[in-house]
Amino acid sequence: MIRFFGHNLTSLASKVLIALSGLGLAGFVVFHMLGNLQVFQGPEALNRYAAFLREMPILLWSARLMLLAIVGLHIGLSVHLAIRNRRARPVGYVVRHYRRASLASRTMALTGSVLVLFIVFHVLHLTAGWIDPSFHNRLDIRGHRDVFGNVVHAFQNPMLVVIYLAGQVALGLHLSHALSGSLQTLGMEHPMLDRLFRGAGPLVALVVVVGNAAIVLAIAFGLVRA
Ligand code: HEM
Repeated sequence: MIRFFGHNLTSLASKVLIALSGLGLAGFVVFHMLGNLQVFQGPEALNRYAAFLREMPILLWSARLMLLAIVGLHIGLSVHLAIRNRRARPVGYVVRHYRRASLASRTMALTGSVLVLFIVFHVLHLTAGWIDPSFHNRLDIRGHRDVFGNVVHAFQNPMLVVIYLAGQVALGLHLSHALSGSLQTLGMEHPMLDRLFRGAGPLVALVVVVGNAAIVLAIAFGLVRA
């Protein structure tokens, strides 16, 4: 039994919490992508947006801490549940039949782990400026942090392009299976809506991955320049 704030959690309760935290994280990823698409409007729009977020430190830090707590809960419960399921079936299946399981569903642990590595790298890179400090503290002509210049500088480096695109592959696979699974765990299964929910995960994942990859590739191919 998983202990949570002094209470024992059943498998179902763990799955519901994993689903709810996953939906919260998916919401963040969609809003983050929409915000970042302002790179196509030029430096003023993206830098103003980034400055707007930082102008409210209490709100920003509350959101950061909440995001961190949700990520911790999501990963902690997922790992715990996976270990418990494995222990409940100590002898693995001799032949694995994957006929109905999609690639995304079979690789959830792998794509989840790659995503964690990607997020740590990404925050150290673009938020903390540890990976490449050369652009991090520059200001634009309006005195805002030049987030646009930093992002454009980043994706002129082929190594960073490959790392970010690999992150998008992991994100796309993880999100496509996780979203549909979460909706089903939360009991939102309905004969008429079943196909819609099953399609929702891959559709949202595709939109997010195409949006993010468009930013990276537009800069890499010189369509967006500083
Ligand atoms: C190509 C895609 C992406 C771009 C261009 C991008 C861009 C950025 C930028 C510029 C920042 C720093 C903002 C600032 O310092 O004001 C940032 C922060 C962040 N990004 Fe991304 N991002 C991308 C994808 C992702 C993905 C896929 C995730 C999560 C799965 C993610 C999670 C985060 C997080 C957690 C932060 C830290 C937010 C904070 O506390 O300030 N990003 N991103």
